[in-house]
Amino acid sequence: QVAILDFGSQYSHLIARRVRELHVYCELYSCLVTAEELEKHELLAIILSGGPSSVYDEGSPHVSPEVWKLIEERNIPVLGICYGMQEMAYVFGGEVAPGLKHEYGKSFVKRVEGCNSQVFDGMPESFQMWMSHGDKLTKTPEGFKPVAATDNAEFVAIENLEKRMWGLQFHPEVTHSPLGKNIIENFCVNIAGAKQDWVMTDYANEFIEEVRLKVGDGHVIGAVSGGVDSTVAAVLMTRAIGDRFHAVLVDNGCLRKDEAKNVLKRMREDCGVNLRCVDAADRFLDLLKGVTDPEKKRKIIGTTFIEVFQEEANKIEKEMGASCDFLLQGTLYPDVIESISYKGPSATIKTHHNVGGLPATMKLKLIEPLRELFKDEVRELGIALGIDETSVWRHPFPGPGLAIRILGEVTKERVKILQEADAIVIEELYRSGHYRKIGQAFVVLLPVKSVGVMGDGRTYENVASVRCVETTDYMTADFYHLPYDVMGTMSSRVINEVRGINRLCYDISSKPPATIEWE
Ligand code: XMP
Repeated sequence: QVAILDFGSQYSHLIARRVRELHVYCELYSCLVTAEELEKHELLAIILSGGPSSVYDEGSPHVSPEVWKLIEERNIPVLGICYGMQEMAYVFGGEVAPGLKHEYGKSFVKRVEGCNSQVFDGMPESFQMWMSHGDKLTKTPEGFKPVAATDNAEFVAIENLEKRMWGLQFHPEVTHSPLGKNIIENFCVNIAGAKQDWVMTDYANEFIEEVRLKVGDGHVIGAVSGGVDSTVAAVLMTRAIGDRFHAVLVDNGCLRKDEAKNVLKRMREDCGVNLRCVDAADRFLDLLKGVTDPEKKRKIIGTTFIEVFQEEANKIEKEMGASCDFLLQGTLYPDVIESISYKGPSATIKTHHNVGGLPATMKLKLIEPLRELFKDEVRELGIALGIDETSVWRHPFPGPGLAIRILGEVTKERVKILQEADAIVIEELYRSGHYRKIGQAFVVLLPVKSVGVMGDGRTYENVASVRCVETTDYMTADFYHLPYDVMGTMSSRVINEVRGINRLCYDISSKPPATIEWE
């Protein structure tokens, strides 16, 4: 395996992702990992990640001398990235100093003339790379020679062939370094000799083994929504411990048309998940009566969800006569970075509802099989697990559901109107082949009525808006350029088939300054 030692950079998981893309098996460890732990594995190479510290600062993290000894004894190739390179300089007698200016952004890296470092094999003489650092190397460590430079720094890449060590000041793992993957491939495959035979099913098998050890003969509970993340997590868990995993779907009365029924079918019949559905629609809708403020709706749904889930957990425990000690969550890597990257209080734009609020009240140990993965990798894993394509390619759906897509008061009647319109729009997106090209698509029911004419009569009905966005990270998004003919079909079907809507609009706002949802 390739071991990545994490010094706390936001990009550490991206390194892992790039290595996995090469079909090379890798694992992420804390930079403080012991030699004893590493020795248990067949180590082909080590990558030292970047990190926010300065190597000379008191308390800054360092690889233990025993690990360095292990590296030297086994002559394991090492690639240090940013802080990782500075760590090498710190250990092998180089010098690191604060740069005159912080370098952040694209930079042109030039290879040193006449020097053919193997990490740059197959690459041009100069290429664009992403820099993000304050400190820089001012003297190369003993036995190391510079192999690339920028206008601003003399030593942006160094190597020591005898020790099989390479250091890079820039970040080859980010997408802004277009040829960065070549460097990672050169290092892992050509230099370290890693085999390119790792596949997503290996990830699944490893998780299943680990979780069996962790859970023993205990029980695990988890909330599922039927979205790709919770489906993949639930299927993995079922493969690991079968019916000792208890999945709960809470029907809050604000799900899409026939959603609870369809999810039950897909999860239970197609995937064998031990899933129960709690019909709490009336309870949620009663509490939402008269509420129009978006944040209040979110709060009500969030707290009620926790109550319902907790009650169901108690029921399950009673039925089994045993306790559930673990909670399964479908947290993805982007959720992890988002939640740790904020250093100070940040403005609440929207209170996101998800099951993240559960552990504090329930004292359960968390199991998060997708914590290291990105959305597209979760989809790949879903396909590898044989989950049906409809589940794997579903757009995300927010926890508060249609309640935040019905502007103004949420009533049973309005939910029904929106469900019908939404189902038609999604059906038309599938039919026209646009569904998969879109990040998220839905209908919003507006608290506005407009005049129309149907047959010979006047109508005075609701206005709805279709929202389709293109996005990969959901942090920024552009409205999807849906062809007019598809819009036309949607509009005539919704207006003709859904009683209560007589006008359909298309939302052409991007995020920012708008958000994806309307509330
Ligand atoms: P916004 O509207 O903030 O949405 O641009 C970004 C993404 O987050 C989803 N979203 C939620 N997901 N609970 C969720 O699980 C929530 O409370 C919630 N609010 C928004 C939204 O659908 C989009 O994918």
